Amino acid sequence: MANPTVASLPTRLGLDDADPELVKALAEGLVRVEDTLHAVVHSDVEFVNQAATHLVKAGGKRFRPVFTLLCAQFAGGNTDAVITAAAAVELVHLATLYHDDVMDEATMRRGEASVNARWDNTIAILTGDFLFAHASRLVADLGSDAARIIAETMGELVTGQMRETVGPRAGEDPVAHYLSVIAQKTGSLIATAGRYGAMHSGATPEQVEALHRYGQLIGTAFQISDDVIDIASPAAESGKTPGTDLREGVQTLPMLYALADPADGSARLRELLSGPITDDAAVDEALTLLRHSPGLRQAARTLADYAARARAELDALPPCPARDALELLARYVVARSR
Ligand code: IPE
Ligand code: IPE
Ligand code: MG
Ligand code: MG
Repeated sequence: MANPTVASLPTRLGLDDADPELVKALAEGLVRVEDTLHAVVHSDVEFVNQAATHLVKAGGKRFRPVFTLLCAQFAGGNTDAVITAAAAVELVHLATLYHDDVMDEATMRRGEASVNARWDNTIAILTGDFLFAHASRLVADLGSDAARIIAETMGELVTGQMRETVGPRAGEDPVAHYLSVIAQKTGSLIATAGRYGAMHSGATPEQVEALHRYGQLIGTAFQISDDVIDIASPAAESGKTPGTDLREGVQTLPMLYALADPADGSARLRELLSGPITDDAAVDEALTLLRHSPGLRQAARTLADYAARARAELDALPPCPARDALELLARYVVARSR
């Protein structure tokens, strides 16, 4: 396990207490996924190669492909199709990160300069498209059902991003809007990651469905924790610049709860949250106010709620090391933002 992405897998994703044989199978699968990823993003055009490998090399948690591998453990495990599916899901995720950093004007990703910051927006958009193209090529090998599923997933993900950008309609409850947006933009791909792992390993239709629903809920929880991390965690931990959501004027769950509670926070926080914040000192001030706000704690409760709903889906699955590991994964998604 010389590859650091593979060696740190259990600790990185809260799986230290998982069954050692299971962890071994996940690590073996991830080695093959990493090989596939590196082979796929390679280009003979040196500049394309540099831009496309930039974020793959930077690391990342590999949450989605590991989840695919884990969901395959209820049946046939690391089949060729499962490895391809896991790599494709990570590639789609990567492509969305290239585009997301353009939209969010983010300068740091996975602890490195973002592609838009290191080169420019055009390079980041084109490289994102390059990665989408290669993800589609991989998925084509999995058959037309898999191709339809990833196409629908990408449609949903982009719709979520679009709805976030536009904001709630007049009269729409902002919290309900937020929760449905994050289910689309983040839950959808993680749901597909689970569904792919199950369907390409020969799991039963009931198991495929249960893992799909678990993925949808845990993916939504994952985004709530990401939004808490944007407020509460330093860059050294997240590999991203804290306060990016504030700078973008995206009102995430802790902010919405703080705004909805008449007793919560000062008039100053309301003023700060009324639009994008450009000034560094004002971002710091808003972060400090939010870190101490009941809104942040309320968001942590909603996060725990989603994780509990995800865990309840596991009742439909047979007791086994993979199910235990999914329990641990649900705990990790809650604990990572603490
Ligand atoms: C970041 O995803 C984007 C979200 C949907 C929250 P990750 O937190 O999985 O990012 P990496 O892959 O580890 O960099
Ligand atoms: C982006 O959400 C989700 C997708 C890329 C679909 P964020 O904007 O919160 O993700 P980060 O924080 O930049 O990783
Ligand atoms: Mg972003
Ligand atoms: Mg974020």
